[in-house]
Amino acid sequence: MKLGLHARYGGYALVTGAARGIGRAFATYLAADGFDLLLVDREADETTALAKALHAEHGIDARALVYDLADPGLATKAQEWAEAYEVGLLVNNAGISVLDPFFEISLETHLATLDLNCRATLMLTYIIGKKMARQGRGGIIIVSSASAMSGSPYFCHYAATKGYGLNLAAGLWSELQGTGVDVLAVCPGMTDTKPVQDQALDKDLPFYIPLTGPEPVALGALRALGKQPTLVPTFADRMSAGLLSKLLPRGWTLSIMKRSIEKMRG
Ligand SMILES: NC(=O)c1ccc[n+]([C@@H]2O[C@H](COP(=O)([O-])OP(=O)(O)OC[C@H]3O[C@@H](n4cnc5c(N)ncnc54)[C@H](OP(=O)(O)O)[C@@H]3O)[C@@H](O)[C@H]2O)c1
Repeated sequence: MKLGLHARYGGYALVTGAARGIGRAFATYLAADGFDLLLVDREADETTALAKALHAEHGIDARALVYDLADPGLATKAQEWAEAYEVGLLVNNAGISVLDPFFEISLETHLATLDLNCRATLMLTYIIGKKMARQGRGGIIIVSSASAMSGSPYFCHYAATKGYGLNLAAGLWSELQGTGVDVLAVCPGMTDTKPVQDQALDKDLPFYIPLTGPEPVALGALRALGKQPTLVPTFADRMSAGLLSKLLPRGWTLSIMKRSIEKMRG
C-alpha cells in the first residue's frame, strides 16, 4: 500500500524496536511505501530475518542494525548512522514498560527505562532530526502512550517517560512547522504485543476496551504524520483518553485506572 511518505521524505526510514510488535508493523508499511529501511533492535535473529523478508518482498535495501539503544555510546552510533545514510523518516518506537508498584521496581530498572524511553529518543531525534532540519525535509514519529496523558498507577515511571516523548513531539511539531520537517507523537492504548501478552491480564472489566493490533497503531500514525501533532489511534482509546484526561478531575481518573489495573493484575 502506497502512503506517499517516501515520495515526501525520501531516503531510508529508521525504525527502532523494529523486530516485533508496533515497530515491525511500522517497518512493514514503510517497506511497502518504498522506503529503504534501517531496522534497529537488540534482537539479532528476528531483526535480520525481517530485513531479509522485506528485501525479498519489496526489493528495498533493508539493513538490520543490531544495537542496544540504552548503550552509553548511542550518541556516537547515531552520528555514524546519520552520516552513513540519508534518513528521511525516523520512528522512535523502542520502549520498555514495567507494570508493578513503583517501589517494587528496582532503581536500576527505572534508570534503564529512562535511558531507552527518553535518552535514546532525545539523541536520535536531535542527531538525525538536525540533519533533516538542515535539509528542510523529513518526518519524525515518537511512540508515546495513552498513559502519558494522565499518568498511571503501577506504570508511574513508564507513563512519566512517555509524557516526555509526547511533549517533545508536540513542541517540535510547532517549532518546525513550515520547515519541511513533520513531527508526530502517537499515543496507543493497550496493544496486542508481547509485553501485554506476557502479563496474562484479567480482561473481565466493566468498561474493558479490546486490545488493538499493532497494525492500526502504525498505519494511523503514518497517515496522521504531517497533519497533526498527536494521535490516539483508535476510536475507543480516543473516547477513553478524552473522558479520562479531559473531562474528569485527575483524581477520579487515577482512581478509576487504579481499580481497573488492580483487577487486571488479579
Ligand atoms: N503494547 C502496548 O500496549 C503499548 C501501549 C502504548 C505504547 N506502547 C509503546 O509502543 C512501543 C512498542 O511497544 P511494543 O508493545 O510493540 O513492544 P515489543 O513488542 O516488546 O517490541 C519492542 C522491540 O524493541 C526491542 N527493544 C527493547 N529494548 C531495546 C533496546 N534497549 N535497544 C534496542 N531494541 C530494544 C525489543 O527487544 P527485546 O525483546 O529484547 O526487549 C523488541 O524487539 C514502545 O515504546 C511502547 O512503550 C506500547
